[in-house]
Amino acid sequence: MIRLTNVEKTYDNGTHALKGISFEIADGEFVFLVGPSGSGKSTIIKLLTGEVLPSCGRVMINGFSMGRISDKQIPLMRRTLGVIFQDFRLINTKTVYDNLSLAMRAVGATTKEIQARIPYVLELVGLEGKEKRYPDELSGGEQQRVAIARALVNNPDTIVADEPTGNLDPNRSLEIMSLLERINALGTTVVVVTHEKSLVNRFEKRVIMIDEGNVVTDGAHSYEVREVQE
Ligand SMILES: Nc1ncnc2c1ncn2[C@@H]1O[C@H](COP(=O)(O)OP(=O)(O)O)[C@@H](O)[C@H]1O
Ligand SMILES: [Mg+2]
Repeated sequence: MIRLTNVEKTYDNGTHALKGISFEIADGEFVFLVGPSGSGKSTIIKLLTGEVLPSCGRVMINGFSMGRISDKQIPLMRRTLGVIFQDFRLINTKTVYDNLSLAMRAVGATTKEIQARIPYVLELVGLEGKEKRYPDELSGGEQQRVAIARALVNNPDTIVADEPTGNLDPNRSLEIMSLLERINALGTTVVVVTHEKSLVNRFEKRVIMIDEGNVVTDGAHSYEVREVQE
């Protein structure tokens, strides 16, 4: 479960990026986080991954309190969380297999576990048989599938994705969003940041809209409603 309670974030340069964010995401939900550029979406994602700490308020994720998490607990927390970025962030000098096996080694998986798991996740993302490819031998959509496989390889409770389709054309974007929907249907909580309205409106999911560091709406299909009001 994810719970933000009155979360504020002021960066060192004084930017007040988040001004009192509260929401709760239950296990198994699929949520879009939307809003204009600079509204604070990536800051929220970084609070969830532990990359930034809250200035005030409370961030709980999968039983861990991010404001007071100890160094020892961070690897345990990270095991519950898979992260996907706009720019894929694969290691280009390593094969698909090695990109995934590294993520499993990092949490102490055995060679046997790795050999059993990688073909399963590659099949899940539609990349069966691509183990030996290097990232630059794959299309953008395929590279993002590898990144999704890497996020899934340690069987996390939650996947967070920051603009995962930002570098992809509309058809590939739709495929990636459908894949995330399928992963959610298998039981993983999914939080996706996007500013692509057509995609959000195509999937009937909860939408949390952020503007200037505040939650402005939270519910189904709120993206269009606000536009009409403007
Ligand atoms: N590391 C940082 N240091 C200072 N200001 C930052 C930093 N990261 C983001 N910001 C600022 O915080 C605000 C929210 O940024 P961000 O969370 O990246 O928004 P979004 O992802 O919605 O575009 C912006 O004004 C941005 O310039
Ligand atoms: Mg962002």
